[in-house]
Amino acid sequence: MSDAAILVEPTAEAAARRAAEVFKSLVTAAVSENQVCHVALSGGTTPRSTFQCLAAGIVTDNLPWGEIELFFGDERDVPHDDVESNYHMAQRALLDHIPINWSRVHPMQADAEDIDAAAAEYEQTIRRQVPAGADGVPRFDLMMLGLGGDGHTASLFPGSPLLDEKRRLVAGAFVPVLGRRRMSVTFPLINASRNILLQVTGDDKAEIARRVLTEHDLTLPAAHIQPTDGQLHVVLDQAAARLL
Ligand code: 6PG
Repeated sequence: MSDAAILVEPTAEAAARRAAEVFKSLVTAAVSENQVCHVALSGGTTPRSTFQCLAAGIVTDNLPWGEIELFFGDERDVPHDDVESNYHMAQRALLDHIPINWSRVHPMQADAEDIDAAAAEYEQTIRRQVPAGADGVPRFDLMMLGLGGDGHTASLFPGSPLLDEKRRLVAGAFVPVLGRRRMSVTFPLINASRNILLQVTGDDKAEIARRVLTEHDLTLPAAHIQPTDGQLHVVLDQAAARLL
């Protein structure tokens, strides 16, 4: 975490706008370099206002939406039209408002009967679409992540067997604390990314942000966000950053 670019904004709204600016700049750079950009969206509630900022700027920002190959970092085991679905949130806040190429949008099938097979299939889609680095691991241009109050990121929760996963890039697991299954990218895929955008807002995240970003407490899953040779961008509001 040591060379993370940490950006602190006064409010959650300003942090959402800042995260949207980071998103736009990274996507624009990737498309001008490679004519395509590979992005994995985060879930939960924090990114919703960032997605809304991106959707609101559709006329002015002139982003190359059609050149984005869009994936998800994790998903709940619900249908995509369920309000709990990360895909549903992204669709309502962003995808329905931009000229995305829907054939390039790849939802996770986390409600599949056989979640392991669905995760393996999702991994194969990533391997087909996202160019790999020298180590053979696909390198996302932008991997968006959030931070849970217990230090989880994506759906990599404390105590999860997926924390030590070295081979699979996408996997499903039962999450005891939730009593539900989740599908998630794993750290080998996360840390191969060229850019990671971690968004943290809210006073209730101040202590966990301190443990992850200042203490680098490796008992917490999010402290294992350590890009191999990419850049970690952390955008917080003042409330979440107050103990850093
Ligand atoms: C999810 C997310 C998860 C999220 C954190 C923070 O599916 O819930 O992927 O990792 O980023 O739980 O959630 P909030 O943004 O809602 O605080």
